[in-house]
Amino acid sequence: MARALVTGAAGFIGSHLVDALLADGHAVLGVDCFNDNYPAADKHANLAGARRHDAFELLTGDLCDLDAHALIERSDMVFHLAGEPGVRGSWGKRFDRYTHHNVGATQHLLEAMVEVGAGKRFVYASSSSVYGDALTLPTPEDTTPRPLSPYGVTKLAAEHLCVLYGEEQGVDTVALRFFSVYGPRQRPDMAFRRFCEAIVEGRPIEVFGDGRQSRDFTFVADIVAATCAAGAATIPPGRVYNLGGGGSVSVNRALETLAALAGRPLDVRHGERQEGDVVDTGADTTRARAELRWTPRTTLSEGLAAELRWVQDRAVPFPRIRSLSAS
Ligand code: NAD
Ligand code: UGA
Repeated sequence: MARALVTGAAGFIGSHLVDALLADGHAVLGVDCFNDNYPAADKHANLAGARRHDAFELLTGDLCDLDAHALIERSDMVFHLAGEPGVRGSWGKRFDRYTHHNVGATQHLLEAMVEVGAGKRFVYASSSSVYGDALTLPTPEDTTPRPLSPYGVTKLAAEHLCVLYGEEQGVDTVALRFFSVYGPRQRPDMAFRRFCEAIVEGRPIEVFGDGRQSRDFTFVADIVAATCAAGAATIPPGRVYNLGGGGSVSVNRALETLAALAGRPLDVRHGERQEGDVVDTGADTTRARAELRWTPRTTLSEGLAAELRWVQDRAVPFPRIRSLSAS
């Protein structure tokens, strides 16, 4: 049994990782500042299962204010998922939140890793947004990154810090470029969560732009499996991996799948394309498949069914969609 530190433990992906580590018999120290991106009650709900475990401990606070040495001394490995997410909200006045939570917090932890992190793996949640509008699809890791949003710039800056501390300071870092993760507990600003809520509440769905943009959507359980594998694999410090769901799918195509799951046509309206939104993403996962011995297993239809069921189960006042209750 290892002791894992999970930052961003109460968030969408972090809470699933906590559950998986506990299920695998590890002890978990979770850290989260419970930011205001979604109602605090939701994030407490994310940790409902973990809180029943004796092997789980939660520390509430901003990483930049906490004693990182103490956190790392108490842990055998670090999964750094805390961050300010969201591509479209990163323009304008909120940028200081992105630099603080994405760059500052990461550097704070890496400095402590230099002091007390010998023999400990540091896994960082990077992002497909580092690529921007990549010329090569699917995109391999050695493509020159050119982020198209301020968010992507901060994720890339933090990723570069991980590579730098790995190569120059001997910290055992690995960075994972997650591609548009979805599934139960997804963040409220993200596309599939918004689409599922609109379906369940009988509201129109708003698509930003013509819906022909595509993403390599990745189901959260597959991301968690790869993240755990990256915590244990024998790999050189500073390694970077793409983690994608297995193929690019357009927003329009994903909506067709959701319509089939809902058992009725959807009321889709088109709004403005959003600044910072790339046209297409696609992960070349050759490296992760070979070195992490990982492969994504969940089809888009299976993953969307799981997310739609989760949204439906939370929405007590709304009538259950018949085709889902039957499944
Ligand atoms: P999330 O917002 O649900 O979770 C992040 C959590 O980190 C939140 O609970 C927040 O309160 C916490 N946090 C933020 N700053 C903190 C700080 N300074 N100290 C302590 N806690 C802090 O986001 P998510 O979608 O689960 O994403 C997790 C990570 O994965 C983020 O770093 C994000 O950039 C990255 N990522 C996510 C996706 C995706 O599709 N969701 C894709 C690529 C990369
Ligand atoms: C997601 C996450 O939000 C980022 O945190 C993450 O870093 C990024 O993936 C990544 O892969 O790196 P995004 O691809 O924008 O960003 O994910 P979604 O929210 O699922 O959006 C997918 C597409 O749907 C985008 O083109 C978006 O504009 C569109 N969308 C979103 C809509 O058409 N309508 C909506 O209501 C929401």
